[in-house]
Amino acid sequence: MNFRQFALGLTLSFGIAWLAVVVVPFFKLRNPSPVSYTEGIDENTGIYHPKRAGRVTNGYEVYAANGCYQCHTQVVRNTDAGNDLGRPDWGGLKLDADTGKDTRRESNVFDYAGLDFAPIGVARLGPDLMNVGRRIPARIREAAGPDATAGEVDGAARDWLYLHLYNPRLSPELRDWSSCPSYSFLFEEREITGQRSDDALEVATEPGMEIVPGDKARALVSYLMSLKHDNPVPASMDYSPADKKGDTEG
Ligand code: HEC
Repeated sequence: MNFRQFALGLTLSFGIAWLAVVVVPFFKLRNPSPVSYTEGIDENTGIYHPKRAGRVTNGYEVYAANGCYQCHTQVVRNTDAGNDLGRPDWGGLKLDADTGKDTRRESNVFDYAGLDFAPIGVARLGPDLMNVGRRIPARIREAAGPDATAGEVDGAARDWLYLHLYNPRLSPELRDWSSCPSYSFLFEEREITGQRSDDALEVATEPGMEIVPGDKARALVSYLMSLKHDNPVPASMDYSPADKKGDTEG
């Protein structure tokens, strides 16, 4: 082999991989055209819209600025690439208490529409957060029983998240073994004036003081609660039909 052949071989082997892995997906995914539901196959009709609610943009910035993506992913992988759908409530809920349906699905490119960067994450030290806004309320509802109203469940889920952000190791019900960092600097300790605030955390303080979430903590929790990526996708985009969902725990 002479040098020319070597250089050509090198360029081809890296060049083809670069085209296939970087260039082609970039042009395919940067401006995806809308996908329609198919009548007769999908329950919905019209065009598929990703849903979004809450103070999403501010919270997304707080999420990014605090490096949550270093340990948390936001992508439910195709079953071919990993058994994310089999992890408890990562891809959605196995049994949605409202609809009685299995809402689990893989992530798709529309789940990141409108964001500057898709927060797919660097490593997975903690659980995937793509559906954390479903999972925490579902857990609370399960513990609270059928009598809890939607408002109560929502409030308790927010309180759980505030405590978790303040210090995940506060109690065994949170996780006293957790290695999720404490973000207590997103909270304020202040003197109680008049009544204790509704959203003061249930933590021990000096007498007469209370700990309340600051603006950033509020935006972040609102963002986390908005992470519900389990709305039904058109069948043409659903690569996770029921029989492919592995059901292993952990
Ligand atoms: C050093 C790695 C690391 C960083 C950085 C990190 N986390 Fe975590 N996180 C974890 C681990 C590990 C767990 C699992 C243990 C637990 O539940 O506390 C976890 C759990 C969680 C949970 C509970 C998820 C569930 O399904 O029960 C939430 C919510 C969460 N983290 C949010 C965040 C947010 C928001 C940030 C950024 C402000 C963040 N984490 C930063 C490691 C991290």
